[in-house]
Amino acid sequence: MRIYGEFEAELTAPPFVPRAIGKRAPTKLIVNMEVVEKEMEMSDGVSYVYWTFDGTVPGSFIRTRVGDEIEFHLKNHPDSKLPHNIDLHAVTGPGGGAESSFVAPGREAVFTFKTMNPGLYVYHCATAPVGMHIANGMYGLILVEPEGGLPPVDKEYYIMQGDFYTEGKNGERGLQAFDMQKAIDEKADYVVFNGSVGALTGSNAITAEVGETVRLFVGNGGPNLVSSFHVIGEIFDKVFVEGGSMVNENVQTTLIPAGGAAIVEFKVDVPGDLVLVDHSIFRAFNKGALGILKVEGKENKKVFGGKIEEKAYNPGNAVLSSVEVADEAASGPSPSTPVSSSLAEKMERGKSVYTQNCFACHQATGQGIPNAFPPLAKSDYLNADVHRAIGVVKYGLSGEITVNGTKYNSMMPKVAISDEEIADVMTYIYNNWGNNKTEVTPEMVKKVK
Ligand code: HEM
Ligand code: CU
Repeated sequence: MRIYGEFEAELTAPPFVPRAIGKRAPTKLIVNMEVVEKEMEMSDGVSYVYWTFDGTVPGSFIRTRVGDEIEFHLKNHPDSKLPHNIDLHAVTGPGGGAESSFVAPGREAVFTFKTMNPGLYVYHCATAPVGMHIANGMYGLILVEPEGGLPPVDKEYYIMQGDFYTEGKNGERGLQAFDMQKAIDEKADYVVFNGSVGALTGSNAITAEVGETVRLFVGNGGPNLVSSFHVIGEIFDKVFVEGGSMVNENVQTTLIPAGGAAIVEFKVDVPGDLVLVDHSIFRAFNKGALGILKVEGKENKKVFGGKIEEKAYNPGNAVLSSVEVADEAASGPSPSTPVSSSLAEKMERGKSVYTQNCFACHQATGQGIPNAFPPLAKSDYLNADVHRAIGVVKYGLSGEITVNGTKYNSMMPKVAISDEEIADVMTYIYNNWGNNKTEVTPEMVKKVK
């Protein structure tokens, strides 16, 4: 193959990827990358000194095609404390380039290689202690497109999972140091996409329009954990298994090994928030491995009808409250008409509504889960405005809010329960855990639009 011209490679920070290669011939590509050690946010109120390729975790996305000749310039910022290097899994050669790229602070190393095999590959620092360099964020992806390029799609994004080990436990505020023992024990405090909790949620969510085909380049830097990558509410039409040439179809969850990658593609048919997770699910809901792909556009009730009905279910042998029994005796089976009842009765019903609908996230005593679910106990947000709080339960909530001085930027799904049940559960919450004892009625719930 002949090599035409010489270009500086376009590099992008996550979640974006450079322009597609298309049909271009192999070329000589100059890649300029800089190692930067810098403090960034790991989670709300939690910071960490990351070691990075180009200042982001993961590092810049490199896009090439098979047959390209790469001249790789690895620079180490003069403010760095340590030497670093790069091992690209796309390299055929000793250490994937590690030795040839070893570079002290304030120096630049240059090495060359040819992309021999198409695929999506991880790169990472391989300076001793290797595990620590990776655990601090030194990884990224390099794509080698096949001859003729990957077929065009509407949206492409770059996502990489990583596990982090901090001296303080998850949520402990302040600057957190790396904990070597936890890393050796594989006890991650954080498991995240793109370097930090919330890197892909709220205003950082990735987006697509109904009808578009989305391609995700998903990598796993590790250092330890294997990802069970899943998108809640979607099925992968195609998975380039392990980032190679084999395509699997109609996949729910794909395994992405530490130091490995996958390309997943799917068409989005209906609007809504798709939730990207590691389906080792405590990692998603308790350690941060959760992102949002926001899909906008027209509903398609044929593909997803949504809830079409909600009604009482009584298998016949349930113990009915005396009021309801009397009611039924008088007038036969009746729709579940609201019964005005004492505070104690409301509290009791509210408690069971709470256990079934809220408990999983806000926890048994309303304490919530740090960095994920805000507290309902002594919640200033809750106590300040009952109508707003009713709205949260009735319609759901997303975007940034502050509860007792801590920011949450997540989403709460709307809870599919009746106005009576909302009144009961709100009454239960308000009359518990140090809250302001408001009594919420179904009429109040009805009025909140
Ligand atoms: C926020 C109540 C179920 C996740 C809130 C807030 C209230 C509330 C009052 C406002 C903030 C505060 O006062 O702390 C309830 C009730 C529920 C329920 C009564 C059951 C009926 C859930 C569930 C989840 C959840 C099941 C998890 C799937 C969240 C999140 C926020 C929130 C993430 C913050 C949203 C944001 O950052 O914008 N909830 N919740 N909630 N809730 Fe719930
Ligand atoms: Cu390094």
